[in-house]
Amino acid sequence: MKMWDGRFSKPSDRLMEQFHNSLPFDQKLIEEDIQGSIAWAGALKEIAIFTADEYQMVKKGLEEILRDYSEGKIQFLPQDEDIHMAVERILIERIGDTAARLHTGRSRNDQVATDCRLYVLKVLKKISDAVVNLQNVLISRAENDYEIIIPGFTHLQQAQPILLSHYWLSFFFLLQREKSRLQHAIETADMMPLGAGAMAGSGFNVDRFRLASSLGFSTPSHNSIDAVSSRDFILEALSVAASIGIHLSRYAEDLIIWCSHEFGFIELDDAWSTGSSIMPQKKNPDSLELIRGKSGRFIGNYMRFATTLKGIGLTYYKDLQEDKEPLFDSFSQLDLVLQVFTQVIATLKTNKERITEDLDPFLLATDLADYLVRKGMPFRHAHKVIGKIVAYCIDNKLPMNNLTQKQLCDFSDLFDSDVMQVFSWKNAIDARNIYGGTGSKSVKEQIDLAKTLLKT
Ligand code: ARG
Repeated sequence: MKMWDGRFSKPSDRLMEQFHNSLPFDQKLIEEDIQGSIAWAGALKEIAIFTADEYQMVKKGLEEILRDYSEGKIQFLPQDEDIHMAVERILIERIGDTAARLHTGRSRNDQVATDCRLYVLKVLKKISDAVVNLQNVLISRAENDYEIIIPGFTHLQQAQPILLSHYWLSFFFLLQREKSRLQHAIETADMMPLGAGAMAGSGFNVDRFRLASSLGFSTPSHNSIDAVSSRDFILEALSVAASIGIHLSRYAEDLIIWCSHEFGFIELDDAWSTGSSIMPQKKNPDSLELIRGKSGRFIGNYMRFATTLKGIGLTYYKDLQEDKEPLFDSFSQLDLVLQVFTQVIATLKTNKERITEDLDPFLLATDLADYLVRKGMPFRHAHKVIGKIVAYCIDNKLPMNNLTQKQLCDFSDLFDSDVMQVFSWKNAIDARNIYGGTGSKSVKEQIDLAKTLLKT
């Protein structure tokens, strides 16, 4: 028996049921579905479809279904197509014919769009909080690792010395922009479809503004076709998840390299690493590898639903049911990824000695060129001169900072006795106190700004 089978002369094929039913995955929406139904029942009470007593009975019945569901006491049936039909069937079985009036003026089209929007709003807020937790850990790291100078890389080749704090803060500011993307996705989802009916607007004139605010939406949808057809809010949410996933993956990649034997800059806490079933010595950064690996899923889920959506005309087609699994998958995984990354970063240990050993004096080559510029040489010429010095050091296996002023003068007579100050890591860092640079003053300013941004 289906609720819609009046015009049918035989039941759905078993395979069709299996193919079509979304209940196995969309029961994840039960909370939102019941919240929406209680609000809809309230709106129906205002237009006298329900008496006050009947409304109370419906509300209580729905709340009990939710409670029983959370206690594992609900029995679904094979003919329950989706969570909306299942809840309605159970309610009718439990409280009788009063419940048969709940679907007055409502369609599953406006119902499912409402449920999904409520769900998206819930998960986007949760993810924003998780991003803030990660940002807090990055600020703590930036404060604690303030003394550590690491080689900064381009092309995975040592480039210039930087403060490790500067690196952590780069992650903070990137996440700050992800939060604006999340905020934009929240604004996109914040519109209530209920009352749009199947597609033309409900035949029952409920107060949609009051209904919207009772569900926490800022506004009801302005057009019933848009209300039931649009899934831009899902695409938007999936796109932010993909963006966050991609960016976390890049930082994970760096940290994976940094904890290798060859680098040894950091060591992950045992709690966030795993071992090998055959090689007893192994400690693998699986947490970070999975953070990197799962980025493929986030991109895939976006692509998957974007591809489905592009072919669907207006208004509702069953293809739209394919929005849910990618949505649920991306947000449950992203929640895990953010929690794990926050812990990995909070607990990792830095190996200052090893990092310092690894600093190659050539990291100061740009500073040496800048020195000549300050003595009056055009930068392009200075670049050439220092290039020759680098080649000389390589040929003679000499660390650049071991050259004497006299040796340097063979390349340019602009080298003075003060040139030795260039060979100081601290000076190289503090030469970059420009706004946004790695200078210790600039990094301190970044930490202060980051803290202010988190407060507002
Ligand atoms: N399970 C459906 C979905 O997720 C609910 C909407 C069904 N609407 C319909 N007209 N058959 O999209």
